[in-house]
Amino acid sequence: SQVPNVLHVLQSQNVGEKIEVKGWVKSLRKQKENVFVDISDGSTGKKLQVLVPQKLFPAGITAGASITAEGILSLSPRGQIELSAENIKIVGKCVLDSYPFAPRKQYQPEYIRQYLHLRPRTNTFSSILRVRSSAVLAIHKYLNSEGYTNVHTPVLTSNDCEGAGEVFKAIPDDINLLKTMVKDKVPLEEAFFDTKTFLSVSGQLHLEAAAHALSKVYTFGPTFRAENSRTRFHLSEFYMLEAEIAFLDNIQDLIMIIEKLIKHVTKSLLDASDNDLKFCHGENKLDLTWINKNFPILTYDEAVAIIKKRSKQFKAEFDDKVGISKEHEIFLVNYCGGIPTFIINWPKSIKPFYMRECENDSTRVASLDLLAPGVGEIVGGSLRENDYNKLKEKLPNSNAQLNWYLDLRKYGGVPTGGFGLGFERYLLLLLGINNIKDVIPFPRWPHNCSL
Ligand code: 4AD
Ligand code: MG
Repeated sequence: SQVPNVLHVLQSQNVGEKIEVKGWVKSLRKQKENVFVDISDGSTGKKLQVLVPQKLFPAGITAGASITAEGILSLSPRGQIELSAENIKIVGKCVLDSYPFAPRKQYQPEYIRQYLHLRPRTNTFSSILRVRSSAVLAIHKYLNSEGYTNVHTPVLTSNDCEGAGEVFKAIPDDINLLKTMVKDKVPLEEAFFDTKTFLSVSGQLHLEAAAHALSKVYTFGPTFRAENSRTRFHLSEFYMLEAEIAFLDNIQDLIMIIEKLIKHVTKSLLDASDNDLKFCHGENKLDLTWINKNFPILTYDEAVAIIKKRSKQFKAEFDDKVGISKEHEIFLVNYCGGIPTFIINWPKSIKPFYMRECENDSTRVASLDLLAPGVGEIVGGSLRENDYNKLKEKLPNSNAQLNWYLDLRKYGGVPTGGFGLGFERYLLLLLGINNIKDVIPFPRWPHNCSL
């Protein structure tokens, strides 16, 4: 038979065919004559029941073991496809004494997180991985249909785009190599590339270079932040979708682009009636009705006024230097009816150098954050300063390597705007999951990079 060995393509039209399946035992029940083995190959959340006569059942098959089984695909009395095995073999036993997950048992995410290498085997986490993969695909598909070009921005870079000093340094490990490369007075950390080199905190500046030729561009890859924030919303390595659009000089247009993207991608994932998405949502009814509503927009000043009016309900009094906290963010979204909410026109003093000043108020920049229910900030974006002289004044001294960025304004410069969507934060919104460490295959956070 030509049926591929992938459970997600098995359908009732394959009934009657002889097939071979490969996968892992999720659970098994022994009855007098037969053993019922539920297997999964991870290509789908659905399991296949394999019916094995007792006399053919090899010793050593337990939950967690890997097997191959051959037989005729048939319909069970309840109308489900199952395999009547004529042959079943162990590929690898599972040492149950030390295996941390018992079949059909539910565990807390904190417990499962202790076993990152075995975590993909749990039903919940394999579902999350498949949803994550579908969401990546949905984003690429949508942006492609909107005429964007995908540009790979570098991971190794000499700029600290956000200027927050949260960069990881990237230097060769080989001191001897460095010593042979050191030129006059160049510090060791600049010996390899001739500049200080970091892991990218954002691909934005390179994306702006591409937008000045390709108009609508995006990049979707890992970014790195050395923040000492040990919250359920922060990772040291996270995936960011960044888009940059040329000839855009209006924050309302940027708002529309972001709102449309998030609604469209979310709707397409819900419409796919994905069993994994349903499985992740579980019993707790996650409210995603915001996909049919307009996202509210508040200015920073309006948001702060609302927070100050309710000051008693927060842990600490509002402090202009600290700004809007996570607690405030989540409150603001609830205040706006649980719909993702844009906060626009932030104080220039707390935002990066590249943001364009508001036309009517030079203390504010044309910028936005999108806050999501239960999560807080999921998007940050802005119009970019495209005036050569103004930008030159604002370039931070520490970013002396950014003359190329200034150049973009010299040769056919155009107004551009763009944004970055924290992909894991979006998944928290989509899935209603509590902790960002549970939506990325191998999370990195302070003191945790060993696996
Ligand atoms: O707001 P941020 O810092 O914006 C930028 O990096 C811009 N250069 C993007 C652009 O305009 N092209 O980061 C964007 C988003 C945040 O809104 C948040 O969702 C996510 O990235 N993010 C994190 N996600 C997980 N862990 C962290 N430590 C994160 N830091 C930011
Ligand atoms: Mg931000």
